[in-house]
Amino acid sequence: MDHITPPRALTLVGPGRAGTSVALALLRQGWSVRAVAGRSADAPSTRRAAALLGDAPAVTAGAAGKDSDVVIVATPDQAIAAVARALSGSLEPDALVVHLSGAAGLEVFDGVRAARPDVRVGAMHPLQSLPSAEIGVDRLEGAWCAVDGPPDVARMAEVAGMRPFTLRAGADARTVYHAAACVASNHLVALLAQVDRLAALAGVPFDAFVPLVRSTVANAVELGPAAALTGPVARGDVATVAAHLAALPADERDSYRFGASEALRLTARHDAELESLLLRVLA
Ligand SMILES: NC(=O)c1ccc[n+]([C@@H]2O[C@H](COP(=O)([O-])OP(=O)(O)OC[C@H]3O[C@@H](n4cnc5c(N)ncnc54)[C@H](OP(=O)(O)O)[C@@H]3O)[C@@H](O)[C@H]2O)c1
Repeated sequence: MDHITPPRALTLVGPGRAGTSVALALLRQGWSVRAVAGRSADAPSTRRAAALLGDAPAVTAGAAGKDSDVVIVATPDQAIAAVARALSGSLEPDALVVHLSGAAGLEVFDGVRAARPDVRVGAMHPLQSLPSAEIGVDRLEGAWCAVDGPPDVARMAEVAGMRPFTLRAGADARTVYHAAACVASNHLVALLAQVDRLAALAGVPFDAFVPLVRSTVANAVELGPAAALTGPVARGDVATVAAHLAALPADERDSYRFGASEALRLTARHDAELESLLLRVLA
């Protein structure tokens, strides 16, 4: 049975950045948002999301399942299991409960499954950075989305504009996938923060590095990381790397050394001199 088309009624529990982005995308495709449940009806995020989602009424998590085909649980990861247990009694038969976490699998819904064998559970992780609902709803368009659960989860991701995919089976696949997402997003941001600090030390604005950053990312995407690598490590220019390490403030060296080691790994070259330089702890 096709549950997801025509458009359905959803309730959003956890009206933050990701949940409101996804709910807004579905609303734009003709879904109705039946209700929003946050920490409380008066919480700023609840009121903000309710207004963005067509003045949907605020309800408690315990009543979130009522009259809804789909309940999206978009709380912080550590709250998903408890919130889902709290709403399980209100779920309609055959309702679909989905979370948006990259870290958690379907086991987080074990409590719901035990209490309500007549409902379905799923996971739908947008592989995208969603800093606010207004920006996030547009960023969902064309984003990849890791799905788990019944086919309706993938259909829902498609309705929201995303490209669903499934992870390889196996206990660690989801955790490794989420680690990759953190490297792609969070660690990249942390590296750019180092660029910002070093640029400031040289009296150069961060903006001056932005075209370099953008073209480097484009090269890695178009050519693949190994072919996109340039610079002193790729050239085997040990003296330049040594000069960098000597000139950097002590608290910037570990990050530089780690990046250079990863660059050397990418070249698949054995370079004893460079390896020993990168291992050396400078005072
Ligand atoms: N943001 C992203 O880029 C992104 C991308 C993909 C997936 N995700 C996933 O989406 C989920 C939510 O992340 P987020 O970034 O949207 O976090 P968020 O902006 O902090 O939103 C979480 C929301 O849940 C509410 N909340 C917290 N505890 C609650 C409870 N017990 N009952 C009801 N509501 C509760 C919070 O209320 P208050 O505002 O009052 O604290 C807030 O509105 C996570 O599983 C995350 O992994 C996020």
